[in-house]
Amino acid sequence: MSGHSRYDPKTGIEKWLDARLPIIRLGVDTLIFPSPRNLNYWWTFGAILAVMLVVQLVTGIILAMHYVPHPDHAFDAIQHINRDVNYGWLLQPMHAVGASMMFLAAYIHMFRGIYYGSAKNPREMIWIVGMVIYLLMMAAGFMGYVLPWGQMSIWGAIVITNLFSAIPPEAAGTSVTQWLWGGFAVDGPTLNRFFSLHYLLPFLIVAMVILHVWALHIPSNNNPTGISIKTKADTLDFHPYYTVKDAFAIVVFLMIFSWFLFFMPDSMGHPDNFIPANPLSTPAYIVPEWYYLPFYAMLRAVPDKLLGVLTMFGAIAILFVLPWLDTSKVRSMRYRPLAKLFFFIFVLACLGLGWCGAKLPSDLVFATGVDEAGNAVGFTFVWLSRILTLYYFAFFFPILPILGWVEKPKPRPASIEASVLAHVKGDD
Ligand code: HEM
Repeated sequence: MSGHSRYDPKTGIEKWLDARLPIIRLGVDTLIFPSPRNLNYWWTFGAILAVMLVVQLVTGIILAMHYVPHPDHAFDAIQHINRDVNYGWLLQPMHAVGASMMFLAAYIHMFRGIYYGSAKNPREMIWIVGMVIYLLMMAAGFMGYVLPWGQMSIWGAIVITNLFSAIPPEAAGTSVTQWLWGGFAVDGPTLNRFFSLHYLLPFLIVAMVILHVWALHIPSNNNPTGISIKTKADTLDFHPYYTVKDAFAIVVFLMIFSWFLFFMPDSMGHPDNFIPANPLSTPAYIVPEWYYLPFYAMLRAVPDKLLGVLTMFGAIAILFVLPWLDTSKVRSMRYRPLAKLFFFIFVLACLGLGWCGAKLPSDLVFATGVDEAGNAVGFTFVWLSRILTLYYFAFFFPILPILGWVEKPKPRPASIEASVLAHVKGDD
């Protein structure tokens, strides 16, 4: 919450510095600000994301010292890092698994935002900057996956860059795609520019996170009740209360991260990426990393290439306008039984789309019979993707705006303080 500064320089050096570069004041005021006193563990994922971003930056910078962005050497460079470089066996999987963990945290952070109405007035800018971060994360993740130059790297890059060839007219689409490639195919120049951009994007993400946290300090955090802070009794200072809570959550998250890292480091990757890239041999299944699967399912759900691409990008674009689609005056879905129901179906739809994205479109969800040749026929994944894609969009429009008008919310506590005290007494 914006207000007067809590920093009171005591020593001569502090006073001298504060008059010239009030950096300590900035740090103190960033950490000691009134936060709602009822934040639950879903509010720790912002801090978890910040830690994961640092993990990615530190491991990435060291990996870049040993990596070679050349088609003849990239694959071997990853092997070299894992086998010969000091602690390379740890750093390389840490970076690869870390990317997945960061996306996991980002998705939880985003679903939390939707459920508790954190995107809504007055936090629209926090949400929009968050969405820019998400887009940058998607781009960084995609380009990072190309760097090991395995089969999934190159074929993933071929599929995704080719999406731009759907831009009409055909000549324009081809030009854009070749401009992205830096040639006439995914090759050395593509790898080189992806490496350069993959190194750049995380720093843009850092800049965006600074804006994100700055915007957060204007209204302070939302909270599980969605009710705004009214009096001091509704608040706690962020430090030490939430620094300690965040620290605990970070340790638990890092334990889960370590479990994947040490016991199943390859579980989130694809075995084909242990085969060096070969542009002449297309893998039987081309699948992106798990965190793109829902969008991949949408892309394949639509029979027309351009419409498929538009659907996929539309699924991300619609998130940008979420603050204006959720028209309910009540922020938190805790008090909105209908919105809550549709939200949980939405979460299931996203998970279902992820499942569809990992399957071949023609695979059967369930068989209804056999054709003359004896092959099973039935309800395919492409059909399931279509239904779930429709629900994905319907949730944002028209379900959310209509619910905002017609839903009768449950009674809400008078304040954050009242909600906490009722909870302590067991009335909540
Ligand atoms: C590197 C990625 C990110 C970092 C480091 C980050 C960091 C943070 C932090 C520290 C907070 C305050 C604590 C909390 O509410 O958990 C926060 C709040 C928030 N973030 Fe993020 N964030 C990231 C990505 C995103 C994304 C992708 C979105 C959504 C598109 C998003 C939307 C929000 C919203 C709406 C809030 C306000 C929450 C509230 O007060 O209820 N953030 N973020």
